[in-house]
Amino acid sequence: MSNARQISVEIIFQILNNKVFFSEAKAALKVEENAEISFINMLVLTTLRRLTFIKKVLYQFIKKRATPNLRFVDCALYVAAAEMLFLETPDYAVINSYVELIKKKQDKYVANFANGVLRNLARIKDKVIWSVTSEFFPPEFIKVLQGYTHEQIRQIEEYSIQEAPLDLSCKSLEQAKLWSSKLDGTLLPNSSIRLENNGKISALPGYREGAWWVQDFAASLPVLSLGKVEGLQVLDLCAAPGGKTAQLISYGANTTALDISKSRLQTLKENLKRLNLTAQEIICADALTYLKDYAGPLFDIILLDAPCSASGTLRRHPELMHIKNTKDIKEAAKLQRQLLDMAGNALKKDGILLYTVCSIAKAEGEKQIQTFLEQNSDYRLLPIKINDIDFSGTKSLSLLISKEGYIRTLPYYSGPQGGMDSFFVAKLQKVKNS
Ligand SMILES: C[S@@+](CC[C@H](N)C(=O)[O-])C[C@H]1O[C@@H](n2cnc3c(N)ncnc32)[C@H](O)[C@@H]1O
Repeated sequence: MSNARQISVEIIFQILNNKVFFSEAKAALKVEENAEISFINMLVLTTLRRLTFIKKVLYQFIKKRATPNLRFVDCALYVAAAEMLFLETPDYAVINSYVELIKKKQDKYVANFANGVLRNLARIKDKVIWSVTSEFFPPEFIKVLQGYTHEQIRQIEEYSIQEAPLDLSCKSLEQAKLWSSKLDGTLLPNSSIRLENNGKISALPGYREGAWWVQDFAASLPVLSLGKVEGLQVLDLCAAPGGKTAQLISYGANTTALDISKSRLQTLKENLKRLNLTAQEIICADALTYLKDYAGPLFDIILLDAPCSASGTLRRHPELMHIKNTKDIKEAAKLQRQLLDMAGNALKKDGILLYTVCSIAKAEGEKQIQTFLEQNSDYRLLPIKINDIDFSGTKSLSLLISKEGYIRTLPYYSGPQGGMDSFFVAKLQKVKNS
């Protein structure tokens, strides 16, 4: 266990100091095959989900450091506090294990200091635990949520720290019905299959046969909002790892998949191979370069699933609330705007530019599209209607569509029991060539 604790502290150290995803930190430390991976996942996820509260409690005993870079001991105290407050490990076991780790990684003076902090924490623990609030986001992340009401932010917080269920997409409704019963899952109104998220995905029935792929309920909506795509020429501009590419091909679109990342495209190729689906073409390129002097045949539809802050996926990636801020949102929004500006070069007149992001920030969604349309008369907004998506008659899902005709999902929307990621989708039609 103490090895697992050390690894967990090192992962937290990597995430917070180097602003990397949990999965990237795990890959860098090569721990995916570790026998204690479940314990490591639990320690790290609990620490990340509760970190705002943990810091508030610990700062009663330690001075907030002036430099932004954390030391091993800071991260060790965060993980130790998570274990003591939220995982019910006996206090003495927590104190002994982490003090030993700190002695090994730093020195005995730092270890003595940590010993004092953790003993103090154990002393006030019972009182502290009653003051746990539902404020999970750090102040910097709250700024990312500009435009949401206080009440909405509270609800987003509450649902964002919950474990996400596992949603699977199939190639057709018939297949979804078949596999939902084989997997003992729930068939959602959009024909995704929802499972309790536990166990190894590749060990589930149907994985090897290529019967389904992992895709959150909300992530399936952009392509579904297009309606019939059979026989149309579609350019999927930011395609990897290929969830939406798989949908497009399954529904009969002639799909060109492009992405800048060679390794992510490799995953896309493996996914399509497993699913027995074939893209018209797979291109590794920077979309901006590809589109700049584009002279090939024009497409009926361009799907721009733009690179973004990913802040709509907090349930799976709680690290995002600690590593993303308004500066990241601004940078992402700038690239998204460049991609939006260029996409028209490869789109037919009257063709559809479907813009989507898995971001909760309005700056990457509603505001981005509003400004784009104000400054670009080549496009008009095609408001998405509830009937565009076949929701098997589930009327309550009309709350997913805003009054302007965008899709905006939020983690607390309960169409399907268990919530969803936050996505934004806008359907734009190219009405003239400038
Ligand atoms: C949100 S992900 C796409 C998810 C994918 N559409 C799916 O459904 O599985 C964004 C993708 O954009 C790619 N990307 C980032 N910058 C790019 C660029 N300049 N040109 C092309 N692809 C880019 C990233 O490599 C990443 O795979």
